[in-house]
Amino acid sequence: MLILVTGGTGYIGSHTCVELLNSGYDVVILDNLVNSERSVVDRIAQITGRRPLFYHADATDASAVDVIFSAHPIEGVIHFAGLKAVGESVEKPLTYYRNNLLSTMVVLEKCIKYGVRRFVFSSSATVYGENEVPFVETMELRPRANPYGETKAMCEKILSDAAARHPEMSVALLRYFNPVGAHESGLIGEKPRGVPNNLMPYITQVAQGILPELRVFGADYPTPDGTGIRDYIHVMDLASGHLAALEKMGPGVHIFNLGTGRGTSVLELITTFEQVNKVQIPYRIVGRRPGDVAACWADVGKAQRELGWRATRGIEEMCRDSWRFQQLSG
Ligand code: NAD
Ligand code: UD1
Repeated sequence: MLILVTGGTGYIGSHTCVELLNSGYDVVILDNLVNSERSVVDRIAQITGRRPLFYHADATDASAVDVIFSAHPIEGVIHFAGLKAVGESVEKPLTYYRNNLLSTMVVLEKCIKYGVRRFVFSSSATVYGENEVPFVETMELRPRANPYGETKAMCEKILSDAAARHPEMSVALLRYFNPVGAHESGLIGEKPRGVPNNLMPYITQVAQGILPELRVFGADYPTPDGTGIRDYIHVMDLASGHLAALEKMGPGVHIFNLGTGRGTSVLELITTFEQVNKVQIPYRIVGRRPGDVAACWADVGKAQRELGWRATRGIEEMCRDSWRFQQLSG
């Protein structure tokens, strides 16, 4: 079965390509390389022994996407392509709305045109916003007030409305919690451009001495140690969640949280990273980061029941694999 993976040279996309190829799927990648490198295709081939097809193209370009659909017998799409930096989305809202909404609509239109029935979409736990933890799929969405979060909620709505009109389609809206870690080979992983915004890549750069210290954004949250709590999930577990969704979902729209169901505080993550990797992470507590919630973790019951999927890797493995990738790539 041939799967089109948009954004397939990116962080989560590349790990999912590895899982797909290792499970016998054929893969076509479409990526405009705005936040990734072509060499990732070689890395995927090195890990799996199988080379995915690669198109350097923009998912918002309807004619370029049409060429790919007309050339290959695609049976499913996993749509990772998107811009994801929250702060940048506030600075460049139209860039974010244009890229994230238009790419989703173009790829969806081609699925409908070419009779491709399976569509898996990268959504985010950010759509839950200020709800009470644990977050459950049935909750009313209250995306945090930034254009990035809005694009995820809007894409979910667009896909749901289209699926209602095309009942033969199977659409999965996968709400990722906090993906971290890397493939155990250390050949692929998350490589942010510039200073990282997210916690784990910041920690690995401090560990390597690229950045002098970590700033902990707030120690006055209503959590046991006062720091923010998140549901970190190993990117390889996240990748296998995509295969489970592709294989198990029937027609209709299916929303799944992809997380571990366990919360870890910033200080717990620092301590675990230090212990597992035998490195020091100098840190300083500073004020809260605007827009952050105190706690965010998943109710993972639905994914377990309906997909038969659950995350198996713990925080130690996430810290070890993130650090291995940083050392090999940095
Ligand atoms: P990433 O930036 O590493 O990967 C996205 C890929 O899409 C990149 O390779 C980029 O070059 C490509 N891309 C962007 N716009 C494109 C376009 N118009 N046409 C073709 N390619 C395009 O990000 P990631 O962390 O792998 O995230 C993948 C998806 O998951 C994104 O949609 C993101 O919003 C979503 N998501 C990520 C996280 C996270 O923490 N990483 C959390 C929740 C949801
Ligand atoms: C961020 C995004 C969110 C996205 C999610 C998925 C923001 C405001 N939100 O959320 O939209 O869906 O990633 O990856 O960017 N922290 C520090 N110091 C740092 C960096 C982070 O203390 O230098 C803390 C944060 O306050 C938070 C935790 O670490 O408590 C995790 O932060 P981060 O990795 O940025 O993820 P999210 O805040 O969950």
